[in-house]
Amino acid sequence: MEAEKIELQGPTNKALHEAAEKILIENDLGGYSVPNRDVYPFQWNWDSAFVALGYAQFNLDRAWQELETLFKGQWDDGFLPQIIFWKDNAGYFPGPEIWQTNQQPRTSGISQPPVVATILRQLWEQNQNAEAEEKVKQLIPQVFALHRWFASFRDPLKKGLVVTTHPWETGRDNAPEWDEAAKRVDTSNVTPYVRQDTKHLDKKMRPHKEDYDRFIAMVEFGRDAGWDHKKIIEESPFRVADVGMTMMLLRANRDLLVLAEQFGFEGEAEFLKNQVSLSETGVDYLWNEEKQAFCSRDVISGESTGIISSASFLNFYADVGTAAQRAATEAHIDRIAKVSQFLMPSLAPGEKQFDAMRYWRGPIWAVVNFMIATGCAEQGLETWADKIRNDTAALIKIAGFSEAFNPESGEGTGGTDFSWTAAMWLHWAGK
Ligand code: GLC
Repeated sequence: MEAEKIELQGPTNKALHEAAEKILIENDLGGYSVPNRDVYPFQWNWDSAFVALGYAQFNLDRAWQELETLFKGQWDDGFLPQIIFWKDNAGYFPGPEIWQTNQQPRTSGISQPPVVATILRQLWEQNQNAEAEEKVKQLIPQVFALHRWFASFRDPLKKGLVVTTHPWETGRDNAPEWDEAAKRVDTSNVTPYVRQDTKHLDKKMRPHKEDYDRFIAMVEFGRDAGWDHKKIIEESPFRVADVGMTMMLLRANRDLLVLAEQFGFEGEAEFLKNQVSLSETGVDYLWNEEKQAFCSRDVISGESTGIISSASFLNFYADVGTAAQRAATEAHIDRIAKVSQFLMPSLAPGEKQFDAMRYWRGPIWAVVNFMIATGCAEQGLETWADKIRNDTAALIKIAGFSEAFNPESGEGTGGTDFSWTAAMWLHWAGK
């Protein structure tokens, strides 16, 4: 089925451009962006990285500032938090009083997909001047410290993978890949809590209670471990090698390497080169021969999840896989395009855990589409790159700047006026 068959009424691209800029401006709470003013009223890690790309289209200074404020939340050991709680807001749970990380500014205790190096390279390559050079040189060591943190605390197998200890860290909160592994998490002692997300949004778009109990139990596990990341990676009941973060970090390591070499960071470049070659072989651990796809793998049981999610298509973006693995991945795209009105569903219609409205169990996310399409274009898979971009643009025309989109009907799911969807329109889909 083709997205073009949908009647596209409403605003022109110019009006959408203006609307997208307005969303970013209104979601600016003072040098940093919130993903959405109601549901996510703080600064989120990978959201901010993508937002910087959107800002770069109309306010370059503000783009740099987004990354700079993000790194104000970096811990001394290089860790970059998922959330920075710049200002109090009772409309979100769990807030800083639950995380108890004892940091200034206040932050959560898990990270998020490390896409910032890739965005940094893009900002630099789009606008090379003396001022930008200063900013890049200042950010390289900070971003490098983050990559070293991932190597030290999220790669226990030393294969160049990312093993996560919390589904929120993957950015794909309730993806079906976590279901089995999360069963090991004991929720019997979770402190009673009141969710805030379901006060803002329809329950059918949000994770189930069972998932939420586990999310909170895992936060309490980290808090009780004093956010000692060494202890957490060794003892967490939830440890999954995430195909999404692994591919994104591999890409980011390549991009940071280019910058490190260009600006004379020799030691850093050496380290990054080693990480890249480690991951190039290491990703084989994620290849599922039976499914013919890259899938997340539970490192406690050693078992592959066998789930083909939208993250399984990021191997192109990371530039990995044998010719046969790449061909098999492309065949999956072809198969899914036949069952889904729009690409790329976070999980394909027809899979047993598929749920068209529920977050990472079906809906389409503009930032993931951007990364998949970027990878496809770089690997010469232009037809898929174009389709994924057209579908993203069509979805935004139909449903506006929603958090995510139903892959069958095209309707919006989650919050509205979402920063990263607006940013992706400005940078990519609306072109
Ligand atoms: C949700 C998403 C995550 C995102 C955050 C803020 O938790 O799953 O990827 O960073 O919202 O938009």
